[in-house]
Amino acid sequence: MAILFRSTPAATARWQPLLAELMPEHEFRFWPEVGDPANIEYAMVWQPPPGLLASLPSLRLICGLGAGIDHLLRDPDLPRHIPITRLVDPYMTDAMSEYVALSVLRLHRQDLDYLAQQRAQSWEEREQKNACERPVGILGFGTLGQDAGRKLKALGFPVAGWSRTAKEVAGFVTYAGGDGLDALLARSEILVCLLPLTTATEGILNAGLFARLPRGAALVNAGRGGHLVEADLIPALDSGQLSGAVLDVFREEPLPKGHPFWSHPRIIVTPHIAAETHPPTAAAIIGDAIRRFAKGEPVANLVDLATGY
Ligand SMILES: NC(=O)c1ccc[n+]([C@@H]2O[C@H](COP(=O)([O-])OP(=O)(O)OC[C@H]3O[C@@H](n4cnc5c(N)ncnc54)[C@H](OP(=O)(O)O)[C@@H]3O)[C@@H](O)[C@H]2O)c1
Repeated sequence: MAILFRSTPAATARWQPLLAELMPEHEFRFWPEVGDPANIEYAMVWQPPPGLLASLPSLRLICGLGAGIDHLLRDPDLPRHIPITRLVDPYMTDAMSEYVALSVLRLHRQDLDYLAQQRAQSWEEREQKNACERPVGILGFGTLGQDAGRKLKALGFPVAGWSRTAKEVAGFVTYAGGDGLDALLARSEILVCLLPLTTATEGILNAGLFARLPRGAALVNAGRGGHLVEADLIPALDSGQLSGAVLDVFREEPLPKGHPFWSHPRIIVTPHIAAETHPPTAAAIIGDAIRRFAKGEPVANLVDLATGY
């Protein structure tokens, strides 16, 4: 029995010694050295080439190396009968909440304006309200959204969350579904997207949605690039409907040189670093999932292919 590991060359180099240390009982094959595919039962993968997983006849479990699994669903030959786990790692959750708190605070405290003033050597006080007067809405109120929500709440922001299914989360206003989205947008001066990318959420951040936010609202997108209709963002910023955007994810990554987002004065770009997979903690979590699966025990964080996340 062997485990196939496939990620970027740089990530593979980081994972290799950890896997040897934490899972010494397993034989690992590091893509593209697949060896005999017939004895590979487990796959630990990030952006596997289309068809790779379908070429493993004994595969029993697919472990995604990220929180989202849209990189797997892009494979038209994905063997859909095989269970898939996604990565839920408290280390990554903390990282995302740091990113969201930083981004929300930057927008709330008018950082974009003060940076422009600094460049112009202009000493000018701007009117500022406190966090308790700045409602934040979080699209995607799951593992990452709720943790970010708790930390924003600790900073004083009134936080509401939006999810697919209705839920009660102590201390938060929650909304669900299409009607719920309208209500959440109407009250959100800063909107944070932490949704998974699915057929239902693709392109959700578009001109129609921006128009339902209060005028001058700001956006943080740390979900996936496919959530944003890129052509709609700059007109919304230039018209003043939106006052700023912090973007960590893009339809094309790396964001191509010359892309208008790089130089727009109301956009902050980061290179998909909000919550990177952290091999030391992730290897232990995935190792545990594989051990449990092998013993026939329940495995956490299984993906539901019907909903796409
Ligand atoms: N930028 C980065 O570095 C980075 C890092 C990690 C993750 N991410 C992104 O963050 C995403 C979320 O991760 P997570 O661990 O928080 O996932 P999660 O625990 O599965 O939470 C997803 C949330 O989105 C909601 N949702 C899904 N489809 C929806 C729809 N059609 N309408 C309304 N709500 C919907 C879910 O609703 P229910 O609660 O009703 O199921 C849930 O609340 C990942 O999929 C990934 O794309 C980005």
